[in-house]
Amino acid sequence: MKFTFAARPDGTPDAMAFAVGKDGLSALQLPLEQSVLITTAAAAARFEGKTGQTFQTFVSEGDDVVQIILTGIGSGKRQDMETAGGAIIAKLMTSGARHLAISGQGLKADQTARLAFGAKLRTWRIDKYRTTMPENQKPTLEAITVLDDDLGSSKGWQDLSAVADGVSLTRELVSEPANVIYPESFVARCEELKDLGVEISVLGQDEMEKLGMGALLGVSQGSVRPPRMLAMRWDGTGGAQKKPLALVGKGVTFDTGGISLKPPGGMEDMKWDMGGAGAVAGTMKALAGRKAKAHVVGICGLVENMPDGNAQRPGDVVTSMSGQTIEVINTDAEGRLVLCDALHWTQETFEPEVVINLATLTGAIIVSLGNEHAGCFSNDDSLSEKLLDAGKNAGDPLWRFPLTAAYDKQINSPIADMKNVGGKGAGSITAAQFLQRYIQDGVKWAHLDIAGMVWADKPGPVWDKGATGFGVRLLDQYVADNFE
Ligand code: BES
Ligand code: MN
Ligand code: ZN
Repeated sequence: MKFTFAARPDGTPDAMAFAVGKDGLSALQLPLEQSVLITTAAAAARFEGKTGQTFQTFVSEGDDVVQIILTGIGSGKRQDMETAGGAIIAKLMTSGARHLAISGQGLKADQTARLAFGAKLRTWRIDKYRTTMPENQKPTLEAITVLDDDLGSSKGWQDLSAVADGVSLTRELVSEPANVIYPESFVARCEELKDLGVEISVLGQDEMEKLGMGALLGVSQGSVRPPRMLAMRWDGTGGAQKKPLALVGKGVTFDTGGISLKPPGGMEDMKWDMGGAGAVAGTMKALAGRKAKAHVVGICGLVENMPDGNAQRPGDVVTSMSGQTIEVINTDAEGRLVLCDALHWTQETFEPEVVINLATLTGAIIVSLGNEHAGCFSNDDSLSEKLLDAGKNAGDPLWRFPLTAAYDKQINSPIADMKNVGGKGAGSITAAQFLQRYIQDGVKWAHLDIAGMVWADKPGPVWDKGATGFGVRLLDQYVADNFE
């Protein structure tokens, strides 16, 4: 979507959007001939300026008919503005309107920027595989003019625009089917980050074998698609920040469960079992895109989990790169097997001070939190607080879970150092305990179980149904708050 910034629209737009705060309707004066008609009609339709509420009508302006959309911004805070921007696009994307002007009238520059950010986030969609879409379902919106000519060149907007581009990359990686996005092609899609100054390095299967990544390779061995370990580095500090922040993502490009095969109903969802890796890639794009003054590495453990004559079996014992051995009780608990080698390699290679991993790790986290929060597990109270704060402010909410020795005990194995599943209850916590066994002394670590957040069955404030891009806005905010 093309966003331009100007004092006046170029020609007459098909639609004009205005932001209205709670109880702001009565005082509203629009720069339109029929301002009074519009505000009277909106009041009659019970439009009150509540966040996300909209009122649409058509008026004549000179010889033209223009669609007017009032969008409620409530108290006008950051998330109100984003929600309002998203609401405009949700109404207009396929409405027939081609050129939309969004007015900054009555708003501060940062409010207009957030309104435009919400709009930009909400325009993302994936139509490339639809060849017979009915004419009236096709998106019509082509151009958006934000009526604030200073905003376009401001750092505020440029940073937000870069974050939205990062979110788009995540949504794209998550939405693509598993015959298109697999470990090698995931890496190929991320090559574009080089243009932004991101350094990229990749481990292939041979190198991972030499490093002894037996846990990750055990998951991968049933697939004809070779695994990859992708490392992306962004240093916006010119070497000043020695120890990087490390972001580590689970990138299971398809999870059949392996020999512990999943039931067929809903298995297609497992194309988004790389949502953690997708969030890491999108965050790297956002950070590099806005030239964040931070040193960050993004690591994606990329494999496909398939049943096959060569697939690993329940009961197999594998040796992870750390030397710790694992009894694979259930081949469907594969995310932790991928992550344990990715986490160990990350700590050995980059010596990070803080490690945050993201994973669609357990169905149990959806039982606990539904689709409203991701689970946060951490060995550090302050890190956890910072992440929860960042999530709340950015619109990617987290909820913290406990980690204790009693849960940890559940993954002891009679034959190896640990097994890859715990007891009947607390499945998300025992999964986190497993990961914690790979975190080295002195490293601050958090694990975010995002299984309930990556994909939405219904539209949200700034996304349509489908891939949400969860994690990018959160991590970008965390970096901005704590490293810049
Ligand atoms: N990728 C799944 C978790 C998942 C389930 C994500 C549903 C999104 C929606 C993970 O690999 C998995 O299969 N976990 C198992 C663990 C169990 C075997 C201990 C699960 O949650 O059932
Ligand atoms: Mn699984
Ligand atoms: Zn999985």
